[in-house]
Amino acid sequence: MALVTGAASGLGAATARRLAAEGATVMLTDIAVETGNVVAHEIEAAGGRAAFLSHDVTSEQDWPRIVATVIERFGKLDVLVNNAGIGGGRHELLTHEIEAWRRVLSVNLDSVFLGLRFAGPAIAVAGGGSVINISSILGKVGVADAAAYCASKGGVTLLTKAAALEWAPLGIRVNSVHPGFIDTPMVSGPLDDLENGDEIRNMIISRHPLARLGAAREIADAVLFLASDESSYISGAELVVDGGYTAQ
Ligand code: NAI
Repeated sequence: MALVTGAASGLGAATARRLAAEGATVMLTDIAVETGNVVAHEIEAAGGRAAFLSHDVTSEQDWPRIVATVIERFGKLDVLVNNAGIGGGRHELLTHEIEAWRRVLSVNLDSVFLGLRFAGPAIAVAGGGSVINISSILGKVGVADAAAYCASKGGVTLLTKAAALEWAPLGIRVNSVHPGFIDTPMVSGPLDDLENGDEIRNMIISRHPLARLGAAREIADAVLFLASDESSYISGAELVVDGGYTAQ
């Protein structure tokens, strides 16, 4: 039984589809209710087992309700994918508003803490399991004008390791995934809105030695691996899936 946050779009939707195709029952959650329900129905139409719940990952009230509903409907929870996140836009540090900073930290980092805090006990009761936190290459290396995003994803990297150490005795593995630039609405949306979007897209591509953006399915494959018994001796690790971006 897997819970995937931010599952209405991009990497979360691809991950939910991939886990369901491998036989997992998947609870999709998101603030985007309409599209989240569509993805869950598509999974069911393809023969998978899935359901959707409206869920704001920044809400301390939402998390216990979500976990309780999963247990009520499906009996247990083995896998948590903390995927929901936002880019937050470009901000120079000299003029960065604290509200914009807090929003990014809240959605990208506080959410992972809340997910661990409230889903962890249920996974422990199930006898252990796997938590996969979606960080970023920008949780390993910096980029200008994205201080809040880099700080939030760097926080996810180390929060993951702290949780892995604390929960090893409980049989809960905790790992982070670090995607390069992947072709999802988070990346394509802002580019499509720009007059020189193609130019910037090509510049981003040129920073990836494999010379293309990643596909959501390629991140879903990495999450599937970390969710499965094939990764049974891996905990506290950073799985980089970035077309070689951080090898340079
Ligand atoms: P996306 O924008 O396609 O999907 C993100 C989903 O999260 C959306 O469905 C959105 O409604 C949901 N969401 C946003 N705020 C939420 C909240 N407060 N509560 C619940 N759900 C919320 O983005 P994408 O690309 O699929 O990103 C998924 C994760 O992967 C994010 O954590 C992102 O930072 C990370 N990532 C993405 C990369 C990329 O190139 N696309 C690269 C590295 C990391």
